[in-house]
Amino acid sequence: MKVLVIGSGGREHALVWKLSKSRGIDSIFCIPGNGGIADIAECIDRDINDFEGLISFSKKEGIGLVVVGPENPLAEGIVDAFDKEGIPIFGPVKKGAQIEASKIFAKKLMDKYGVPTAPFKTFQSYDEAERYLTTLSPPYVIKADGLCAGKGAYVIWDKKEGHGVLKDLMINLIYQESGSRVVIEEFLPGVEASYLSFTDGKTTLPMLASQDHKPLLDDDKGPNTGGMGAYTPIPFVDDHMAEIINRDIMDKTIHALRDEGIIYKGVLYGGLMLKENRPYVIEFNARFGDPETQPILFKMESDILPILMACLDGSLNEVNAIKWREGVSVCVVIASRGYPYKPEKGYVINGLDALKDRKDIMVFHAGTKKDGNRYITSGGRVLGVTAMGETYADAIKKAYDAVSCIDFEGMQYRKDIGAKALK
Ligand code: AMP
Ligand code: GLY
Repeated sequence: MKVLVIGSGGREHALVWKLSKSRGIDSIFCIPGNGGIADIAECIDRDINDFEGLISFSKKEGIGLVVVGPENPLAEGIVDAFDKEGIPIFGPVKKGAQIEASKIFAKKLMDKYGVPTAPFKTFQSYDEAERYLTTLSPPYVIKADGLCAGKGAYVIWDKKEGHGVLKDLMINLIYQESGSRVVIEEFLPGVEASYLSFTDGKTTLPMLASQDHKPLLDDDKGPNTGGMGAYTPIPFVDDHMAEIINRDIMDKTIHALRDEGIIYKGVLYGGLMLKENRPYVIEFNARFGDPETQPILFKMESDILPILMACLDGSLNEVNAIKWREGVSVCVVIASRGYPYKPEKGYVINGLDALKDRKDIMVFHAGTKKDGNRYITSGGRVLGVTAMGETYADAIKKAYDAVSCIDFEGMQYRKDIGAKALK
């Protein structure tokens, strides 16, 4: 079978890498891909939002499966467009992708079906939202309704700040229409976890829980980013907690969507807060997480292809639980100077050769491109240095030893990925 992966990040490199190990696959294309993906798949430079162009490419090549990485094409209906043409595509239809693309949709769904989440109110009118804010004392959270590349949620610690954020979102429209409607919700203290499950719209097949590190700097300081590192499994989610999450959040949400007339196929990603040993949904994503997918797929032993196909066929209940390599998987993201605001690009990356062909280390590429035999930085998040170790301490040490082999001008990374697991 020929497979097409859509996207260009570390998540997509991990997907292409994992698919390349699959027995049923002859060749892999990636649109647009990156420098690392180019080593194992054919990268094609095309616009991922031009669905007609992607469909004609897929027909010409006889693609048997399309896997979509990022949220934007899902929210714009890429799956509906491919479904119409009868080309198998992994991901939710547009109505399902609303669970990520509209926080108001997601919160109302959770409220209606009793999926645990923070108490909230939604607003379309700035004046009403502003009036409501005056009745609140921080901390609380303001969220833009629409997609904002992971930057639309603000935890407010100071009253004045809250009014400023609301004005920026609803009046100054810093995220255009995405911020014209907002959710204001209660702050939930606790430990964060990412919980990703495959689903065929009827049942869910969970991956291992993982933990992202969203802020740029150590100790969760600095601005939020797409994610500076992740590891799996996490000590905060044991079998009992996973059972509760599967039952009260993942399965319940898939059934709720079904009751609303939406057959949701693909990955459902729960961004969770674990508070007093109970899980609450902070947000849902309609796709694989990035960077979480990098340590998760590096640890996955099962072939991913039959799982993806079963999600499309509606036969996920026939697939066995996923098998995992023993141990801990840790991914440290190396980003460019200036990320997340104005990343510098165009620097040569040194040191990658020394890490090739190691069973316990995989360097997934994100913002890189190839120039002859060299790799050049071309984005904010550049590499996801991923290591398998026997223990948390072992995996973390291996990942950072590998990071120390790599060098490019202005590289920055957090020094405390996985540290919460050691406490
Ligand atoms: P989101 O984009 O919704 O995932 O939010 C970004 C980050 O803001 C999350 O990873 C949390 O750290 C934080 N956050 C969002 N909502 C809440 C909440 N209700 N309580 C506490 N922290 C929150
Ligand atoms: N790691 C956060 C995300 O994928 O949205």
